[in-house]
Amino acid sequence: TWTMEEFIGKEITRIREICGPKGRVIGAVSGGVDSTVAAKLMHEAIGDRFHAIMVDNGVLRMNESKQVHEMLSRDLGVNLTIIDASERFLGLLAGVEDPEQKRKIIGNTFIHVFEEQAARLEKEAEVEEEKGSEKGKVEWLLQGTLYPDVIESISFKGPSATIKTHHNVGGLLKDMKLKLIEPLRELFKDEVRALGRLLSIPAPLVQRHPFPGPGLAIRILGPVTREQVKILQQADQIYLEEIRKAELYDNISQAFAVLLPVRAVGVMGDKRTYEQVIALRAVQSEDFMTADWYVFPPEVLRRISSRITNEVDGINRVTYDISSKPPATVEWL
Ligand code: XMP
Repeated sequence: TWTMEEFIGKEITRIREICGPKGRVIGAVSGGVDSTVAAKLMHEAIGDRFHAIMVDNGVLRMNESKQVHEMLSRDLGVNLTIIDASERFLGLLAGVEDPEQKRKIIGNTFIHVFEEQAARLEKEAEVEEEKGSEKGKVEWLLQGTLYPDVIESISFKGPSATIKTHHNVGGLLKDMKLKLIEPLRELFKDEVRALGRLLSIPAPLVQRHPFPGPGLAIRILGPVTREQVKILQQADQIYLEEIRKAELYDNISQAFAVLLPVRAVGVMGDKRTYEQVIALRAVQSEDFMTADWYVFPPEVLRRISSRITNEVDGINRVTYDISSKPPATVEWL
């Protein structure tokens, strides 16, 4: 048996040994639990020789990159670069409806953008080293891989791996000469959360629901445009705000809004409207292989629905998804 305090001490020592006195590490961060905890641990171990990179792919939640900046950079002191690549991603996504195509575009573009950033940092590090900096070359790539991911990639049996292409940072190392550093590879999710708490990562972040790599692109059922992203961001924001206010966030494993590419008739004042529909999803699940739809108190649903239809331009109807997994999946795409 071991304690989490011992784990932190040992892992920090191990990271320092691996990186040596000068080596630098880069890693992608998303605002999720795993990458945040991994980044904070690297920062504790090697300070600003760890470089975090966040790629804004244009399909993040409302103000996501701003919040990541405030938390990781301002509050936790991590060396962070945010790259706004939303034009590039949305350009490539234009007109694409097929979900697997959306996943591929986002996964591949992410890899390209990240590799460009890595190359830029490697150049900068070389120049600095020549000028006598005590920081050396970029030699390592941080990945927030957890134990279940390690198992899944060995056995590759999970339905999630076979049914949908799950794009996290998996393909990243193929062409890069960086070596891999995976401080979380022996931990389960609840252990990562415990580790995060010990590293003083704020509770709301540690308890965060998972958010898929392809982001809102797989929650917009038709083509992805800036306008559609904006509508979904607003609905999602209201939905999660009301869930938090009702103190239900921690009872739910994952909650999100989905934008349906259909128009329904409604009425506003004495006029007919013809606008889009939001579907709300909330599930309880142990491991996301199976999931039950969540039973909300009716007054919470009533408030959410009335706020979304009143506050979000372009939406006149809200539905609640009462499908379990299986046969439905958690995401709609
Ligand atoms: P499904 O829809 O397969 O979702 O029942 C199970 C869990 O996986 C997440 N998910 C993804 N995560 N990239 C990700 O990083 C993806 O392409 C992806 N597709 C689904 C989903 O949000 C849920 O937590």
